[in-house]
Amino acid sequence: MIRRSPSVTSQLGLRDRIFSTAADRGLAAGIDAGLVQVESGLLAEVTFADDIANVTSRYLLNAGGKRVRPMLALLTAHLGGGSVPDVVTAATAIEITHLASLYHDDVMDDADKRRGIPSAQTVWGNSVAILTGDLLFARASQLMARLGERAIRLQADTFERLVLGQLHETVGAQGGADPVQHYIQVLADKTGSLIAAAAQAGVVFSGAPGELERPVVMFGERIGVAFQLIDDVIDLSPQPESTGKVPGTDLRAGVATLPLLRLRERAQTDAGAASLVNRLEEDVMSSGGAPSAAADAAIAALREHEVTAETLAEAHGWARDAVEALSPLPAGSVKKALTRFAETIVERSS
Ligand code: IPE
Ligand code: IPE
Ligand code: MG
Ligand code: MG
Repeated sequence: MIRRSPSVTSQLGLRDRIFSTAADRGLAAGIDAGLVQVESGLLAEVTFADDIANVTSRYLLNAGGKRVRPMLALLTAHLGGGSVPDVVTAATAIEITHLASLYHDDVMDDADKRRGIPSAQTVWGNSVAILTGDLLFARASQLMARLGERAIRLQADTFERLVLGQLHETVGAQGGADPVQHYIQVLADKTGSLIAAAAQAGVVFSGAPGELERPVVMFGERIGVAFQLIDDVIDLSPQPESTGKVPGTDLRAGVATLPLLRLRERAQTDAGAASLVNRLEEDVMSSGGAPSAAADAAIAALREHEVTAETLAEAHGWARDAVEALSPLPAGSVKKALTRFAETIVERSS
């Protein structure tokens, strides 16, 4: 088996010497250079006039992260002027927004771990974790404000959608709405919105042609849904050392992800599925997150069940649709790299 380099651009296949053209290598170098600037921007911006805030806000920043959103912004920026300062600023603000959302999400999901370390609220308690997220949201807005009204509106609209996605996930499908449709909308809102905003920011702040905005937004939304569906499958992974999360965190927090929703559909006609739904609801979802052998066994059974393979297949379908949205883009390195980006997202295991 070929060992993959952890470098983002190599994961995109941009460094493949056999197939890549000089233009592909130029794009890879441009993105790498932009990512270095985003990284130093993150360190510089996640700084507050307060020692406690500095420690708590840098805690998850320093713990890692894939930087998927900045990379996407830098990629689409190469449809225009490339990794120019405004694109780097927008990409940094978007990553800070993402970082902030993780502090809040771990409180809501009662998650023990994030990026391989204890989640912030397990270290400092809920109030400090929530306030740290709020500080980071404020900082992201300040950064966007440097780019003018368009950027502020993009940030505000995206944040509203992200929060509504989290809210709708929390309250569940209402008034007989189809649970799967509700769920997919939640994914588009809580995750697709920010990924789409990253793709859009790359076009807008690099001065790329305006008609490319819509296709990259559609790409971002769809790849965001694929990304989150893969996240649902990763949630069931038995390898916390590679995912950095406790297996079954979503279910333990009572969040019914797509594998469980598909299992519930089957339970109407399949006794085996019905019995597994019962075990998951009793041993995992209503146990208040308490670890137990029964919970681990039920999560393992869901992982091995066909519905999890179906969820993976659905993720691949969303990735294909994302790539289809790129058809108006000119042929070339960026389109090729976005296609590889979509493939990489659905092949990921952490
Ligand atoms: C995790 O996002 C939260 C979701 C929206 C699925 P990422 O998987 O991009 O998290 P990091 O930044 O790499 O830790
Ligand atoms: C996170 O969704 C979405 C946001 C932070 C907006 P999840 O709760 O499914 O993601 P993980 O699994 O904790 O990363
Ligand atoms: Mg979570
Ligand atoms: Mg969540």
